Amino acid sequence: MKSRSEREWWRDAVTYQIYIRSFADGNGDGIGDIEGIRSRLPYLKSLGVDAIWITPWYPSPQNDHGYDVANYMDIEPMYGTLADAELLIKQTHEHGMKLIVDIVPNHSSDQHVWFQEALRSPIGSPARDRYIFRDGKGENGELPPNNWQSVFGGPAWHRLTDSDGNPEQWYLHLFAVEQPDFNWEHPEVRAHFEEILKFWLDRGVDGFRIDVAHALMKYPGLPDIPPAEELAAHGEFVPDEFRPTWDQEGVHEIYRAWRKILNSYPGDRMAVAEAWVSPASRIARYLRPDELANSFNFDFLTSLWEPQYLKGMINRAVDAMAEVGAPPSWVFNNHDVTRSVDRFDLGLQNRQVNTFERQGDPAKFDIARGTRRARAGALLMLALPGGAYIYQGEELAVPEVRDIPEDRLSDPIWKMSGYQDRGRDGCRVPIAWKSAPEGAHGFSSNSALTPDQAWLPQSPWWGSYSVQSQVGVAGSTHSLYSQALAIRKNESGLGDGPMQWIDAGPNVIAFTRPGNFACFVNFGAPIDLPEGADVLLASAELIDGKIPTDTAIWLRVK
Ligand code: GLC
Repeated sequence: MKSRSEREWWRDAVTYQIYIRSFADGNGDGIGDIEGIRSRLPYLKSLGVDAIWITPWYPSPQNDHGYDVANYMDIEPMYGTLADAELLIKQTHEHGMKLIVDIVPNHSSDQHVWFQEALRSPIGSPARDRYIFRDGKGENGELPPNNWQSVFGGPAWHRLTDSDGNPEQWYLHLFAVEQPDFNWEHPEVRAHFEEILKFWLDRGVDGFRIDVAHALMKYPGLPDIPPAEELAAHGEFVPDEFRPTWDQEGVHEIYRAWRKILNSYPGDRMAVAEAWVSPASRIARYLRPDELANSFNFDFLTSLWEPQYLKGMINRAVDAMAEVGAPPSWVFNNHDVTRSVDRFDLGLQNRQVNTFERQGDPAKFDIARGTRRARAGALLMLALPGGAYIYQGEELAVPEVRDIPEDRLSDPIWKMSGYQDRGRDGCRVPIAWKSAPEGAHGFSSNSALTPDQAWLPQSPWWGSYSVQSQVGVAGSTHSLYSQALAIRKNESGLGDGPMQWIDAGPNVIAFTRPGNFACFVNFGAPIDLPEGADVLLASAELIDGKIPTDTAIWLRVK
């Protein structure tokens, strides 16, 4: 196996996800932007991350906050200009970090020129064939073409009306109504995205995060999805035709073509798939040597805080990735899920049905315990083989924000779920850089902006999770992350490579990595430190020399 300095950077990297609207606001309008990110590059560098991933920054009507792209080869004016983006790429590289952009190939915005052209064009015309238009069922086409549901709630089909106000065809949108799905059978769609990849690679980006990478191809004939009981009978391996929107064989051909493009550029360009597929053997199929570099391990992000469950999941992932020679990519948080502080305390697995399923019972929430677990989880994640993705605010242990007033909720899920599910705004509140309220806690360059005036309001307690209150402060979660990342850089046995389990009882996850490094995570009653071990880092203070409950520890062992 190649050493860390010899192998591709994406095998070991810790990548920091920037949700651009909420990271830092450089132009004072209460919405994050490229200028804001540029001003915070020194912060990211000193935190110790290897790469940044920026959520979609393209021109967009923002119905899904940028995941509805109107033009893939430009920058949303609210975020800056193409020149700003180029400067950011250059300066990120000068800081010794890589930069990944988000690409959204499953759907565009309904404002994309192609969709607008399709709307103006007659039924059956070539312009319509770039998207998925169908006649409705029923006597007058009044029923949707099939029973598919939008991920955000309600039917996945929207019926158009013609210029005379008469109803006509339906189009497919697996997400919001404003996000029509592309027809990936169409050669122009394929060519368009290859051009987009080159456009950004030419500008120096190091890679792409591929939005809903497993959705691009749909099963031929667009069959109905069978009832849940029938699907359950197939266990983990549901045949393609019964999950006609997800993880179809045909997507792999697309990524093989993309990999060729990536490989034609110097410097280990990469792509990471957002593919919510399971079990791990399905993830591995995206990571075959001629396909993608990384694919998020969402089994990890949906895990309970339960040692045997976690251990089994890690085992399956490590084994499955080894089969294809790819590194696992661990992730605990992103802009779509309830924050880990809440999840690990309340046993949430990110089912998105209603607010209760998403956020759990607030009366049962013990934030101290949740924070303790999230901190321990971080050391577990950063010690495992492969790379890791962390989401802004995770390094500050921010909890889910549950008290955003209903009239400020802006995630399309809120409306599309019939106001049953508050959606994802609770993990997207703009970062507090300062404890004092001015400039929305330093989020904005406009010091007159109040916390309530940020695009999503910052709650009155938000300042207590500021960067300022944690950087350089012993015991803070920021310090834990920055220490962990510094150690990780110097430990050549961390990142990609082998691990070996240690049996330390049913309530402990323990393993070694090359270089006499060990990680212990204790879920049960306090346990003794292994004999003769030196503590490198701990997620909580040891008590009488023992590792307390819900604590992870990094050790140099004999
Ligand atoms: C992905 C994104 C999510 C977005 C959806 C539709 O899951 O992470 O934020 O809403 O795709 O593009």
